[in-house]
Amino acid sequence: MQNRHAMRPEVRADFETTRVEGDDAFAVRLERFFTELRDPLFALYGNDARFPAAWERLLEAIASTAAGRSRELRMLDHEREVTPDWLQREQAVGYVTYVDRFAGTLTGVRERLPYLRELGVTYLHLMPLLAARPAPNDGGYAVVDYGAVEPALGTMDDLSALADDLRGEGMALCVDLVLNHVAAEHPWARDPAFLRTFEDRSEPDAYERTLPDVFPDTAPGSFTWSDEHERWVWTTFNAYQWDLDYTNPDVFVAMAEAMLGLARAGVDVLRLDAAPFLWKRLGTNCQNQPEVHELLQAFRAAMRIAAPAVAFKAEAIVAPQDLVPYLGTGKHEGKECDLAYHNVLMVLLWSALASGRVGLMTSTLLAMPPVPPGAGWLTYVRCHDDIGWAITPEDAARVHEDAYLHRRFLADWYAGEFPGSFARGARFQPDPRTGEARTSGSCASLAGLESAPDAVAAELAIRRVLLLYAIAFAHGGLPLIYMGDELGLPNDASYLQDPHKADDNRWMHRPAMDWSAAERRHDPGTVEGQLWAGLRRLIEARRATRAIHVQGAVEPIWTGNDHVFGLCRAQAGERLLVLGNFTAEPQAVGLGVVHEHGFELTEDAGTVDGRPVEPYHDFVVLAPYQHLWLSG
Ligand code: GLC
Repeated sequence: MQNRHAMRPEVRADFETTRVEGDDAFAVRLERFFTELRDPLFALYGNDARFPAAWERLLEAIASTAAGRSRELRMLDHEREVTPDWLQREQAVGYVTYVDRFAGTLTGVRERLPYLRELGVTYLHLMPLLAARPAPNDGGYAVVDYGAVEPALGTMDDLSALADDLRGEGMALCVDLVLNHVAAEHPWARDPAFLRTFEDRSEPDAYERTLPDVFPDTAPGSFTWSDEHERWVWTTFNAYQWDLDYTNPDVFVAMAEAMLGLARAGVDVLRLDAAPFLWKRLGTNCQNQPEVHELLQAFRAAMRIAAPAVAFKAEAIVAPQDLVPYLGTGKHEGKECDLAYHNVLMVLLWSALASGRVGLMTSTLLAMPPVPPGAGWLTYVRCHDDIGWAITPEDAARVHEDAYLHRRFLADWYAGEFPGSFARGARFQPDPRTGEARTSGSCASLAGLESAPDAVAAELAIRRVLLLYAIAFAHGGLPLIYMGDELGLPNDASYLQDPHKADDNRWMHRPAMDWSAAERRHDPGTVEGQLWAGLRRLIEARRATRAIHVQGAVEPIWTGNDHVFGLCRAQAGERLLVLGNFTAEPQAVGLGVVHEHGFELTEDAGTVDGRPVEPYHDFVVLAPYQHLWLSG
């Protein structure tokens, strides 16, 4: 209330007149979140002549979205307002897939829901599905129309119908929203005021002095000459992905309208693609600028007023100290994203698997800044992108390692080049100057399934996949299963036949769903059967373990054995200890370590892994890649 009276008269008038007839809940939300919306926008755009009209349009879009909410969606709004941890509970399990590669179309996805139900999925992230430019389009991350679905996949009505079906199944729908850029062919890209453009190279050159290259190999530099505009256009990613200029309030409002449109279609979670890049500042890497957090707070407030059931997930693959602010820290606490990818955990899992040692993972996780209250991680093993070996000198120094050498080792190992490597991945965007590279490859192929010469080696590869998933499932966060991992789908070389994909080897780990492999999922004698059963055990174990809840404590522990990772979780009076052997040999952990953390070794500790526990004198012996779950 106090804030309301402090408003400038014209803003106060806006507040007073923004109403949705007969909707008291809307009035309450407006009251609650109005300043969270107003303050960042007035700070960013208050002196811009374009702002008053943009602001009016924004308020109209918010009010009309709220007014158009169906009874069912209003119920969902209420439900999630009273259950703010709906994405954080132990029941939550995500699945990520491309619509076309999984089931052809959105209608096809509706037909495949029984498969997801059987797996135990409660959250479905469909990769970019809005209308994109013709290929190449970076897998849909070059949008031409935020108000339409890609015609080959279906229509907005199909999307709503899918969202309805998913709701009926207790599954939330997550959709990508590309915030930073549009396709060069998007109507917004006709308007120079929507873009960052430059007459000559002087400013681009000045920016490039501190700008990292996202795709140094295939799209070097961050600017592209446009004959149409006769200017250089800012293009952080590919030459056909044109960055938007968020210093223009019309850009903010246009994107807010796109967001609200997806809420109207019944989408539950928005994945905010490339969020760190929204604001540029000379002399910096043009990521994670403070204004980005102002923008995200304003987007969030707009959504909370209009459609509070909708959650935000940040795609920010940046260092921990830059990442945690996307979950809302400082003055933005509780006002930004609900979820963010735990990229560091993913990198550390693969690092531990290659080296067979867990010291770097344990010490780096211990040094992670805490997640702000109310927010949570997305934990994952693989996704559609490459793995960037984000191991910093500080991380490595804690365990007396050399970060550069370790990163090179990981790139070599997962390219299958390091002696003894089980992996069959590939280098992504190698940098010849440093010898470093990121890594592409499917989970199964990186874990050794593709190279396995015999059943014993295949069994080890399956165990590796399940070990990584076990940590991702226990760590604390909404765990994501990347389509195909549940069946061990290997790398797919078919992208090489497509001239629009051949230069981007991320397509090797974006295979089409193999439904014949899926049919083998109930046969325990098959790879598919073992992976499916292993993941099912993990999902059931999560469900039965309250200590898994995202808001619970997460404490990596030293196990006294550098090959065995330990993780303690605690929530609501319940506790969990997970131990994981990251080598192909049996490993022992002293029972003293187990007792010291307040746990007892029980006979059923190996149930989730599917193998019995082996006590040996004062030790517990973990089989190759075995993970044990102890409740306390
Ligand atoms: C995100 C996506 C990636 C895409 C990029 C540009 O990082 O995950 O696949 O290339 O944004 O949109």
